[in-house]
Amino acid sequence: MRSDMDRRTFVGVAGGAIASAFLAGCAGQEGAPAADQASAGIDYMALVNKQHQLPDGWEDAVEIVHLVNSEEWDVDVEAKAYEAYLALKEELEGDGVFVDLDSAYRSVAAQQEIVEDFTEKYGEEYVKLYVAVPGYSEHHTGLALDLFLIIDGKGVYYNEDMVKYPEIWEKIHARLADHGFILRYLPGKKIETGYSYEPWHIRYIDDVEAARKIMSEGITFERYLGELDPSIADCKVDYGTSGLYAEADMDSALDAILREFGTWTGCAMKRLAFAGDEACDADELAYVNELREAKMPDVDAFDQAIVFECTFHTPSAAEAEGTAWEPDADYDGWTWHLGRTGADGAWQLMTWGY
Ligand code: DAL
Ligand code: ZN
Repeated sequence: MRSDMDRRTFVGVAGGAIASAFLAGCAGQEGAPAADQASAGIDYMALVNKQHQLPDGWEDAVEIVHLVNSEEWDVDVEAKAYEAYLALKEELEGDGVFVDLDSAYRSVAAQQEIVEDFTEKYGEEYVKLYVAVPGYSEHHTGLALDLFLIIDGKGVYYNEDMVKYPEIWEKIHARLADHGFILRYLPGKKIETGYSYEPWHIRYIDDVEAARKIMSEGITFERYLGELDPSIADCKVDYGTSGLYAEADMDSALDAILREFGTWTGCAMKRLAFAGDEACDADELAYVNELREAKMPDVDAFDQAIVFECTFHTPSAAEAEGTAWEPDADYDGWTWHLGRTGADGAWQLMTWGY
């Protein structure tokens, strides 16, 4: 999660209550914080995601240490998480894996700068998949750490470069739980976490047993905490295999589908599956363009189409009253049809049904 603006972002952004915590915990340069620098009174298992903001009073309670990383960037991180990170880093070096901290604690203002920088560099669709709305970022806790890789002595810190080293991330992820960390944004779990896969974003939870359970079962923090929305909690997402679309392309389309589905009171998604490259052919493109002409003639012609199939369950008779749904039933083979203009464009949901 490297932003070209980060270097200036992290200088002088601490303000208000957090500033006193910064000063109290300021290490000045890289090195282990004193053992008494854990934050008193914060809940290390706190959930911050698209639905949950930073808990009240957090910034008064959290103990932040400041360090300067190997690239000379300023990084701020919660004290106990930093101690655990140093132990993790040392162990990884024994595996021949070298990492450093890119960013950890971020103020709301710093997050806003990242949103702006990434929107300019990668576009709005990318930002929706990878960058939290300011106020809703786990980085505000100081417990979320973005790592970067050091390969052959050189820092690899842009997202698009870091994802090229899956074997290295695998080694890193295998060591997380023993130090009280979890991988927060798992591949294929955007429906639960709200974000696409981020191998670099780890979260300190200060509970090795819980971390081991989460990591060994490959579950999301939301699922572990029982905080999933019932409308998607039992949904399996099948990305299939595609020569046309990467997982992130499909995640963007899921966003559009789930936005609509979220308005179907009482319905629960059970399975959502990419329909396959052959379903996204020239005929399908012509079909969604026909719908676009009728519904949104001002939008440029789509050059890509995508189709998903799903099974969903309808509400009970009482809840379904007044709707067209057969109550308490599974609807199989329902399809969702979307089109977009350019690979960076937003998927437009054109129609759905049988
Ligand atoms: N990259 C994570 C989602 C954040 O911006 O907090
Ligand atoms: Zn992150």
